[in-house]
Amino acid sequence: MANATDSWIDALNALVPSWPATAGTLVLAYIVYWFGLVIYRLYFHPLAGFPGPRLAAATSWWEFYYDVVKDGELVFQLPGLHEKYGPVVRLSPRELHINDLAFYTEIYKQNTKFHKDPHFYATLGFPTASVCITDPHQHRARREILNPFFSKRTIAALSSVLHTTIEKLCTNIASIQGAVPLQDAFHCMTVDIISGYAFGTSFNMLDEPDFNAVHVRSVERSAETQWLIKHIPAIRWLADRLPGPLGSWLDGGLMELAGTCENIVKDLLASSDRKQETVFDALLSPTGSTKGHIVPSYQELVDEAIILLAAGTETTAIALTFATYHILANPDIKRAVQLELATIPRDPAGHLPYQAIENLPYLTAVIKETLRFTHAVPGKLPRIVPASGATVPSTAQRIPPGTCVAVAHYSVHMNEALFPRAHEFRPERWVGEEARGVERWLVSFSKGSRGCLGINLAWAEMYMALAYLFTRFEMELFETGPREMRWKDHGVAHTVGHLKVIAKPRTLV
Ligand code: HEM
Repeated sequence: MANATDSWIDALNALVPSWPATAGTLVLAYIVYWFGLVIYRLYFHPLAGFPGPRLAAATSWWEFYYDVVKDGELVFQLPGLHEKYGPVVRLSPRELHINDLAFYTEIYKQNTKFHKDPHFYATLGFPTASVCITDPHQHRARREILNPFFSKRTIAALSSVLHTTIEKLCTNIASIQGAVPLQDAFHCMTVDIISGYAFGTSFNMLDEPDFNAVHVRSVERSAETQWLIKHIPAIRWLADRLPGPLGSWLDGGLMELAGTCENIVKDLLASSDRKQETVFDALLSPTGSTKGHIVPSYQELVDEAIILLAAGTETTAIALTFATYHILANPDIKRAVQLELATIPRDPAGHLPYQAIENLPYLTAVIKETLRFTHAVPGKLPRIVPASGATVPSTAQRIPPGTCVAVAHYSVHMNEALFPRAHEFRPERWVGEEARGVERWLVSFSKGSRGCLGINLAWAEMYMALAYLFTRFEMELFETGPREMRWKDHGVAHTVGHLKVIAKPRTLV
């Protein structure tokens, strides 16, 4: 009987292949598939005729190398690639980078037909926030609710709130003995401003000792892992399912940020007696004045809170960091800024009036040059070519529908035809004859329907923080030079080191 069973099992074993054989077959199948895919991408794909590195056309691991292994260095490859291959370069199997100003205007304009790339924006981790919505109708409805809160007029009326926060920044800087971690201080300041304004309660990060706020670190870390998650989205999926600290470590701080925002939204939903109407009250209003407005779900509100806290803070903080660095690193620029600021009379409350500050031509030129030279958001903002296809004006090349395309800010701002001696920090280029015609090519906030919601707030913060700091303090750089201020593209420009200064109160104020 036993013999009969054994031979029966032997017969079955002979039919089922062994594990090593199965694994071998799978590996072989994968190699054949991959080989076939590469051949397709190189010779039969709709983008096969476009020039670029062969490896980039064959696999997105080429882009992975510059994004992840070289940590945000892809943007610096663009000028060399365009020099070698011309205005249109294939950067990955599905994506072209296009160095053509007329094409920039076509992609990033009002009512553009080039919608955001769902693949890229889904990987950011807050898919229903205004910045990630890809459907133009849904996006317009959301923006129409948000826009009035960030209009030029509303922000100008907010200047007393900005005065109070920036006064606090100055007081806390003055209390520090030794080097001031000014970059962190700027980040805390922008968090306090946007949280006070958008949520009705300031986070008071400026009160953190040495401006070392947990939230600031979370925002920084979440941007640092962005490229890894863009290329391997499963990491975020896994992070969401792993317990607390492990998940948080894996997704680089976004989970901490999301936790903060969930608490904010719960508080907002629980209480209605606020001193002022916030962005969220407007979003929650079922009678929203906008056609097509649908009251956002809890998760959509959390996503919107995350984007306000992330996009609305470190962008402005990094721009302020670079502006301060360049002013302090160039004694002539510093002198000119201080002389101009000295011409502003105080208002009866002792404040530097916002309207007077924003009319200062040299300070304005310094901020514009900072935004041009250091970009804040330097890289690709990918869009999808509409069903009708597109034509690159300078080469007349046809781009097939569905292709992912972008024109990075870095390419525009480093364009020598627009900005001669583009690699030099020269505020003078924004004054007088030289500035004529180039104003519209300062694209740091992007343009058109998908341009920055917070542009007016960002300008107000930059004007006022710089005006107050350079009026109140005599500052010098501390252990901060070109090496520390070298930046990487993490979606937002991230410096390799941190700006630190020695700040002594000025006697003339
Ligand atoms: C110097 C400071 C800033 C720079 C350079 C900047 C830059 C940008 C850029 C380039 C975009 C387009 C992103 C894309 O196409 O994917 C954008 C969008 C956005 N920004 Fe800013 N930003 C700054 C400050 C702010 C501030 C202070 C806020 C706060 C409200 C803010 C909120 C947003 C939002 C909500 C969007 C999404 C807009 C939409 O798609 O409707 N930004 N910003």
